[in-house]
Amino acid sequence: MEKPNIAILGATGVVGREITKIIDELKIEYKTIKFLSSAKSAGTKLEFQGREYTVEEATPESFDGVNIVLASAGGSTSQKFAPEIVKRGGVLIDNSSTFRMDDDVPLVIAGVNDEDLRKHKGIIANPNCSTSQLMLVLKPLHEKFVMKKLLVSTYQAVSGAGLKAINELSENTKASLNGQDFTPNAFKKPIAFNVLPQIDVFCDNGYTKEEMKVVNETKKIMHLPEDLPISCTAARVPVYNGHSEAVDIEFENPVTPDVVREVLRHSYGVEVIDNPENYEYPTTRDASGVNPVFVGRIRKNLAFENGICLWCVADNLRIGAALNTVRICQKVIEMGLY
Ligand SMILES: NC(=O)c1ccc[n+]([C@@H]2O[C@H](COP(=O)([O-])OP(=O)(O)OC[C@H]3O[C@@H](n4cnc5c(N)ncnc54)[C@H](OP(=O)(O)O)[C@@H]3O)[C@@H](O)[C@H]2O)c1
Repeated sequence: MEKPNIAILGATGVVGREITKIIDELKIEYKTIKFLSSAKSAGTKLEFQGREYTVEEATPESFDGVNIVLASAGGSTSQKFAPEIVKRGGVLIDNSSTFRMDDDVPLVIAGVNDEDLRKHKGIIANPNCSTSQLMLVLKPLHEKFVMKKLLVSTYQAVSGAGLKAINELSENTKASLNGQDFTPNAFKKPIAFNVLPQIDVFCDNGYTKEEMKVVNETKKIMHLPEDLPISCTAARVPVYNGHSEAVDIEFENPVTPDVVREVLRHSYGVEVIDNPENYEYPTTRDASGVNPVFVGRIRKNLAFENGICLWCVADNLRIGAALNTVRICQKVIEMGLY
């Protein structure tokens, strides 16, 4: 098969820039590559693999002859361009939530449910960041012990909300330290020195959309029964990058912390740091800028009979978005699905 022509849609954004870096790191082979944005950043010069590229404004014609589009330009942009990409025979790997729950769109974490990629009809969705890091941890544990119930609390970094949010944490922090007033814009409340128990809008059931993404996407990716009990509380914390999650899992089968450590030590994409006596456990600083999902604080869960508690940390811009997008692209190429 010929090498693909690739386009990065949203190339000037937080996720798009990371996608560009990872295409280089994973040595993705392509025939041509182009970088697309809105009119705002069109004309920006970008250095990639020793060559200078000019970012172009995305139009339907931008996708002529393009085989694979890696998109992180927001839901409405994906919605607008998806039919244009598919009509031209391209495959869209999308970071927005727009298509994730569509029946004919595979929702994939590379290394977890790669076979679902074969069912694509032109669109493949990348899961939400907090779901993504969890899947690499849960899949091997579910295979061995069979998951019965799942409770997740997330502590999510501001980079998950884009450039505007990153800048707002800096500005808000400076203002607070200088005793100045600050009006939040990217968030509903001040993010500096604060924890916000809201990510995305509230649903009728009292959960936020972010929390329901964890519930629904987990079931879709892991092919779990619809009635398997899953609950999530998602909070935004004043951390630049790296999401943390406290996870409580009940299994059908007996389980011990030692066996969980052993299983996770041999699992794809996971690294165990779990030696609390020496203060060895994963923090967001360990996870930012690198690929593994780190797991620590593995212990017997006192609330469930066959239960485990664990703490899991990862770079939300990598495994939660860009890394998985590029890994999907790699699989699509390897499996000849473009
Ligand atoms: N940040 C995360 O951790 C994360 C995780 C998972 C998924 N996502 C999703 O990824 C997407 C982007 O997130 P981000 O954090 O990278 O946002 P961002 O930093 O605000 O970047 C948005 C990018 O999309 C481009 N864009 C906006 N409107 C466009 C249009 N009409 N046509 C073409 N390009 C357009 C922007 O171009 P300009 O520079 O011209 O404005 C920019 O390149 C969102 O859907 C988000 O939900 C983000």
